[in-house]
Amino acid sequence: MQIGLSYDLKEAIPVEQDGLDDALEEYDSPETVALLSAALEAKGHSVVRLGGGRQFLDNIRREKIDIVFNIAEGRGNYRSREAQVPSILEMLDIPYTGSDPQCLVVCLDKSVTKKLVIAHGISTPWWLTIANEAELYQTSWDSFPFPAIVKPTCEGSSKGIRLSSLAYNVQQVQKEASRILKCYQQSVMVEEFIDGDEVTVGIVGNLPPKVLGVMRVLPKKKDDHFIYSLEVKRDYLNLVEYECPALLEEKILDEISDCSLKVFKALGCRDFARVDFRVSPRGIAYFLEINPLPGLGIYSDLVIMAMKMGWTHEELIGAVLDAARERYPQCICV
Ligand SMILES: Nc1ncnc2c1ncn2[C@@H]1O[C@H](COP(=O)(O)OP(=O)(O)OP(=O)(O)O)[C@@H](O)[C@H]1O
Ligand SMILES: [Mg+2]
Repeated sequence: MQIGLSYDLKEAIPVEQDGLDDALEEYDSPETVALLSAALEAKGHSVVRLGGGRQFLDNIRREKIDIVFNIAEGRGNYRSREAQVPSILEMLDIPYTGSDPQCLVVCLDKSVTKKLVIAHGISTPWWLTIANEAELYQTSWDSFPFPAIVKPTCEGSSKGIRLSSLAYNVQQVQKEASRILKCYQQSVMVEEFIDGDEVTVGIVGNLPPKVLGVMRVLPKKKDDHFIYSLEVKRDYLNLVEYECPALLEEKILDEISDCSLKVFKALGCRDFARVDFRVSPRGIAYFLEINPLPGLGIYSDLVIMAMKMGWTHEELIGAVLDAARERYPQCICV
């Protein structure tokens, strides 16, 4: 097959858009693109590098592509950005890997996602969404369960989530929320902070989707209020350990796996995803968010998890591709 690879490289983004030091955090590196190309080529496919943005538009109209392997995060800070490439591919009727625009749009908005997840009986920390400064100062915090974490509503890769994102009182919420409203130009979520284990779950496949692994992320230095923040993700080798399979009670592992599959199906995810939880000391698993377009670079959580579960990177990429191909009759025999 001729496989198109769509992606957004950090270096492809014009410098003037790079105002914040984490503005490009979600975008990929040439190393990841090379690794994905190699994994697809190892399966006997030829790979056309389509890139992202306008370059993607030019390339997708020119090249003859059987299916696109999509890791493009999309351009701008629009909350629909992850749907940009899949929307174009649907318009052109070209098959692609991963979830469809509707799913990607919903899941990038953590507040909308949590409402849907609650409707399926899954626990998630209490939260308020604040749209602007006026709302921030009109909100009553009397019954809010502090401490809280303050985070942008529609970001990934821990953009905007710093060690300073934990707030113990109203003044700290206001300071941090104000920073996010100004810097990230979007609504802010103030969410009940769940102390306890940080757990992430990988899912691959459709018929049926299966849990690839349940991984616990542990701070190397004891931390009373651990946050898997931007600072930690950037220095993960020194600051955290990855434990997979997670050494949690069987009952909790089963509950987390069930919840993850339920969320995957409820939100209409396809092919693969990664779901984040915090498990309270009382053993309650709280859903934080789902990533239907998780990183596939060698240092991404899903890849680390897959390797700890005995998969190679190539096998993971192959499984995502196979899951997508099975959905498109025209791709099965190519
Ligand atoms: N309610 C919460 N309670 C405890 N910790 C939280 C909470 N919300 C976020 N965190 C911490 O912040 C981290 C990042 O939050 P979240 O997963 O919402 O951000 P993200 O940018 O979407 O992450 P990703 O890199 O997975 O895309 C979590 O992994 C967790 O450590
Ligand atoms: Mg997360």
